[in-house]
Amino acid sequence: MEQEKKLYLETFGCQMNVSDSEKIVGLMRGIGYGETSDPAHADLILLNTCSIRATAEQRVYGHLGKFKSIKKKKPRLIIGVGGCVAQQEGERLLEKAPFVNLVFGTHNLHLLQGMVTAAESGKRSIETDFLDDEKRFDLFPAAGKDGSVTRFVTVMQGCDNFCAYCIVPHVRGREISRSAAKIVDEVAKLTEAGVSEVTLLGQNVNSYGLKTPGEPDFADLLKMVAELEGLQRLRFTTSHPKDISERLIACFAEIPKLAPHIHLPAQSGSDQVLKRMNRGYTRTEYLAKVAALKEACPGIQITGDIIVGFPGEDEAAFEETMTLVEEVGYADLFSFIYSARPGTKAADFADDTPRADKQRRLERLQAAQKRRTLAQNQALVGSVQQVLVEGLSSTGDALFGRTGGNRGTVLSGDPSLAGRLLDVKIVEGLQTLLMGEIVQV
Ligand code: 5AD
Ligand code: SF4
Repeated sequence: MEQEKKLYLETFGCQMNVSDSEKIVGLMRGIGYGETSDPAHADLILLNTCSIRATAEQRVYGHLGKFKSIKKKKPRLIIGVGGCVAQQEGERLLEKAPFVNLVFGTHNLHLLQGMVTAAESGKRSIETDFLDDEKRFDLFPAAGKDGSVTRFVTVMQGCDNFCAYCIVPHVRGREISRSAAKIVDEVAKLTEAGVSEVTLLGQNVNSYGLKTPGEPDFADLLKMVAELEGLQRLRFTTSHPKDISERLIACFAEIPKLAPHIHLPAQSGSDQVLKRMNRGYTRTEYLAKVAALKEACPGIQITGDIIVGFPGEDEAAFEETMTLVEEVGYADLFSFIYSARPGTKAADFADDTPRADKQRRLERLQAAQKRRTLAQNQALVGSVQQVLVEGLSSTGDALFGRTGGNRGTVLSGDPSLAGRLLDVKIVEGLQTLLMGEIVQV
């Protein structure tokens, strides 16, 4: 019998890439490639890349260097690069890295089977055209991993906002929403296959349907999906503060299956910086939406993203970010030093803040958040949380799940409980984890 060909797939960056990679695995399985976790054993290496910050992009080139040496020993190895760096670099990637066989952009997954087959007979190829109609959601199988408790379902893609720092609109194209009926159908199929929780996914997920008046908006979509009986818990990410509607806020009170968590990037607490970033809201508007969310859903967990050291951010502006973060009381915060991205508006802004000052601001922000997260985790000790068990913990000798507020929780119990939503008493709050005991199965 012919030996199965092997795929080594590495994914960088956001949840959209994680979700695309699940689809890539399914597509490659369709042309005879099983997965391997060792690049040295691979017949096909694919990198699904991210260009959100320079550091992410540099890591891609670092990895390519490693794969080049594997290819020296194994000339028939096929190497492909996809995702945001591929979209942006296009032909340049083939020139810079002559050992790369194929380059596929963010809208071209549906061509990947053909490209890999062509590479098997020695043909190099590149596909980076944008495909700006809804068809692109239907061009490849939704299926990916089997046996998962929780899965992403893409509901919209792309971004029309052009925040001054951000490469996403340039590499993911314009906003496009998928039909509600097809989304409901996909979630129904996943629940029939044993999935308990879905996360509706989009670059600006709550801008869903805004370009198609008369069709369901995001609040309508949440209600439609929540009606599916097999579904136990519903999440969504990432939300743009400017498009948080009153109807969406009300969903947190009206839909019991909707997890009490929202990822709501503020990026900065200073109006002057928000304006230069082109974010479309003020500090006061952001805080008003946070207050309304807390009122509709007491105990809601809010997570966010912050960029420090954006061009023109002075000490006073940074202090406003520090106070915003405190006022919101984020459960968790992802914070980054601003990184100029070629082709974006902010790449041309004058930036006179020394790197050392930016680093110091980041460290202050992160230290404050670390203390806040630990204090919040400790405050949960003694409470009972609904934990959806996802499977074994990383150590393999306990179970891992998440609270509605999205805090990772380790508990002891039988692996057959995977997929169950259980009442769990929190007995210890650590920096990045809760420890819990099952109250009732
Ligand atoms: N520099 C630093 N951080 C960035 N992000 C997006 N673009 C940049 C950039 N050029 C951050 C934002 C966004 C998160 C996904 O990445 O905070 O919400
Ligand atoms: Fe980037 Fe802004 Fe669009 Fe988010 S909303 S993807 S930060 S341009």
